[in-house]
Amino acid sequence: MKRAWKDKVIVITGASSGIGRATALALARKGAHLVLAARREDPLDELAQRCEALGVRSLVVPTDVSDPAAVRALATQAVHAFGRIDAWVNNAGVYLLGSLEETPDDAFRQVMETNFFGTVYGSRAALAQFRHQGRGTLVNVSSIFGSTAGPYVSAYASSKFAVRGFSASIRQEFEGTGIHVCTILPAAVDTPLWQHSANYTGWRARPVEPISSPERVARAILRGLVHPQRELFIGPSRRAFAVLHSLFPAASEKSLRASMERRQLEPHRQPRTSGSVFRPMAQGTGQSAGYRSPARQWFRRLLLAGGLVATLNSLRRTATGRRLGLRVVDALGA
Ligand SMILES: NC(=O)c1ccc[n+]([C@@H]2O[C@H](COP(=O)([O-])OP(=O)(O)OC[C@H]3O[C@@H](n4cnc5c(N)ncnc54)[C@H](OP(=O)(O)O)[C@@H]3O)[C@@H](O)[C@H]2O)c1
Repeated sequence: MKRAWKDKVIVITGASSGIGRATALALARKGAHLVLAARREDPLDELAQRCEALGVRSLVVPTDVSDPAAVRALATQAVHAFGRIDAWVNNAGVYLLGSLEETPDDAFRQVMETNFFGTVYGSRAALAQFRHQGRGTLVNVSSIFGSTAGPYVSAYASSKFAVRGFSASIRQEFEGTGIHVCTILPAAVDTPLWQHSANYTGWRARPVEPISSPERVARAILRGLVHPQRELFIGPSRRAFAVLHSLFPAASEKSLRASMERRQLEPHRQPRTSGSVFRPMAQGTGQSAGYRSPARQWFRRLLLAGGLVATLNSLRRTATGRRLGLRVVDALGA
């Protein structure tokens, strides 16, 4: 696997923290050269030094992905420095919590500009270079909210549904050309996203368990780069969750709402904030933000597995259960 990365050139947007930073370091360990983009220059410089200490080359290009000219300049600088681009990861993104009534229009629009149009501009720039080279891999980071929207995230979920649909569309346009498009759909991840989030609810927010590590998402992105798949769901049982959602949408929406209200929004008041939506924030330059407790993760996994086995066992005894089982198997195999 290491050879697959040696001397490859990868552009990563949103590399100044969280998943982007974890992905850059994972790729540097495998020998890939990196082009690192985000708005904050200092954390990118520090990351570049860490990558170079691992023996690879890196280029820092401060970029606001919602500016199409800046994204075109990012691609031009990457090609100028390295001669080609082997893969491009559109990872830059912002989170926004707030009911539709609470969310200001300009914040809603800026979430779309960054998460969706940033991905469109990045994809255009990458695909033009890939077309020229006759090969390349594009990875677009959506979210589980690009598959099962929840309450209080209408701007974010709209942007991530759009990323997913857009990626599926261009994947088909490039089929058979040697150019691959892979969509990543992580569930909750322990990153500074939660510190950077815009929040108009008036309540403090945190990710809902089970929470993946950014390193786990980075490993999935690397898998998507070596063996491009159409879509990769990341997080314990997330594929199964998406399937259950499509089978029982009403029950699933009810439980999502309860989960958002009781678990994602904490009973602590906090002032409304636009977070890093319009301007980057100084804080939150690490990979993780300390939300995961490994012991709790294992306990929850055991409970989930036990509950799943018990449910399947009782369903197996009924004709409806057997029919349902076949539908689940069909959907999971899809
Ligand atoms: N954490 C989760 O639970 C989770 C779950 C599903 C999907 N995701 C997705 O994963 C991706 C990475 O998020 P993360 O969790 O790693 O959060 P994060 O630590 O806040 O990282 C977001 C990155 O995007 C960059 N960014 C934001 N606005 C930008 C802009 N206009 N132009 C350029 N860069 C911009 C940020 O850097 P600057 O502020 O320096 O620009 C930062 O590097 C996002 O697309 C997010 O939606 C996260």
